[in-house]
Amino acid sequence: MLIHTIEELRELRKSWNNLSVGLVPTMGALHEGHLSLIKKAKETCDKVVVSVFVNPIQFGPSEDFDKYPRTLEADMELCKSAGVDAVFAPAPSEMYGSGNRLSNDTLTYVCPPFFYVNKLCGKSRVGHFDGVCTVVLKLFNIVQPDFAFFGQKDAQQAIIIKKMVKDLNVPVKVVQCPIVREESGLALSSRNKYLSEDGKKDALALSKILNNIKACFNRGITDIDALKETAYSYLTDKHDLEYLEILDKNTLEEQEKAGSDSIALIACRVENVRLIDNTYLGEA
Ligand code: PAF
Repeated sequence: MLIHTIEELRELRKSWNNLSVGLVPTMGALHEGHLSLIKKAKETCDKVVVSVFVNPIQFGPSEDFDKYPRTLEADMELCKSAGVDAVFAPAPSEMYGSGNRLSNDTLTYVCPPFFYVNKLCGKSRVGHFDGVCTVVLKLFNIVQPDFAFFGQKDAQQAIIIKKMVKDLNVPVKVVQCPIVREESGLALSSRNKYLSEDGKKDALALSKILNNIKACFNRGITDIDALKETAYSYLTDKHDLEYLEILDKNTLEEQEKAGSDSIALIACRVENVRLIDNTYLGEA
């Protein structure tokens, strides 16, 4: 069922009174990664809602909001075959009103703590996580899910959303699901669509770097600089490395040494497409 308005969604939600509801928030261009979230939601909940909304307020002025892939028809097919109960695909005006300037002059924003946003993706994407938290809290208020499902690929996003849920007492259980990869190792992302075949090969450097860091850690190397240095043999002039960090996997704090509670995270541009990936050094 395709739903475009908040009112219709609320009506449907009311009719599911005693049932558990799972929300899978997405920006569409659905792939196997999203399908794994939907599958987990189906296993966990009686009813599953997928939201498809390319959220304007989480894109910076020079980012890819206009060209972000919009494939609602294909997304609907996929959701139908995955047994999704409702797809919520509002227009930007439904979410933010028309004529509203989408800035914090006129709109109430959720601003996650500086400690969590002033690093990794938040450093280059200023305001991005304000936009993410604002739309996610709105979706939580509209859908009122019992569970919400997010991918580990956006590790910083998942940590920040968990923090928001805790700090603002939002009655939603956040479930984090593992990264889904192509056989080659490339982490699935809607932005992979922007890459040429050669670009996809160059993009494999990200997962290779992370695998190698994990292998070195498993061999006993815990010095963070030494682990990070192993990346350089994979980087060529086709790679524009934005960050490579090894941090505490729950808090994103810096650590003296890498440990089984560490996560290695990378962001790198290939063909000017910004790609991110990460891996836990210990068990998930
Ligand atoms: O991860 C995403 O696709 C988006 O950031 C989200 C959570 C759907 C919010 O727009």
